[in-house]
Amino acid sequence: MTEVYVGATAEEASEEAARRILAAITEARESRGVAHIALAGGATPKRAYELLAAELDDWSAVEIWFGDERAVGADDPDSNYRMLNETLMAAGGPDPANVHRCEGELGAEEAADAYATLLTERVAAGADGLPVLDLAFQGLGPDGHTASLFPENPGLDATGICAPVHNSPKPPPDRITMTLGVLQAARSIVFMATGESKAKPAKALLGAPDRAVPASLLGGERTVLVADAAALPDYSS
Ligand code: 6PG
Repeated sequence: MTEVYVGATAEEASEEAARRILAAITEARESRGVAHIALAGGATPKRAYELLAAELDDWSAVEIWFGDERAVGADDPDSNYRMLNETLMAAGGPDPANVHRCEGELGAEEAADAYATLLTERVAAGADGLPVLDLAFQGLGPDGHTASLFPENPGLDATGICAPVHNSPKPPPDRITMTLGVLQAARSIVFMATGESKAKPAKALLGAPDRAVPASLLGGERTVLVADAAALPDYSS
């Protein structure tokens, strides 16, 4: 059953999301000596990343990954790496050497292969051979997508570690995503959703797994949804 936290405002949700990411980092470092954290792109998490940078001084043994990236270079306005650089990293976050950028400028196929190789080299795998992240921090799209796993898009059924995505309904069309299998294998999953445009997918995320709502395929015991009241009007924490 997915746990739910509802803040009155997006700021409260951002504060809780930062706390949850920090808790995952702390648990991983204490238990395994290293924290492998995959972060979401998009706009929702920006404030949470700024708050996280303010909360954590010691970033040793924290390795940052991207649940997805657009097939663009690091300086492109669409780049999730650029967004993280302007938020978490600019506010005094992790050592850039420990922020593993997906090289979107290579094109979706080549970048997906290169990122999968890097994950294999640096993240211990589980019994199924997939890297086990300590946290998958996920955004939620109005259509129920998460990372770049979109309804009725072939990327949703991709096997392996990373997959190229084309014809994304959310621009830009060409992307790279961690596969559903890798995200499902994470030790913990935290979604963040704010605003009334996320109310329908947030409710669906808490329902039964449904391929029409890719995010719902990541629900369950290890999953938390952090939302504001606009995204979950029928809930109160
Ligand atoms: C991306 C994101 C994507 C995002 C959702 C929500 O690269 O676009 O990873 O999955 O998290 O689309 O985006 P917003 O937070 O901007 O609403």
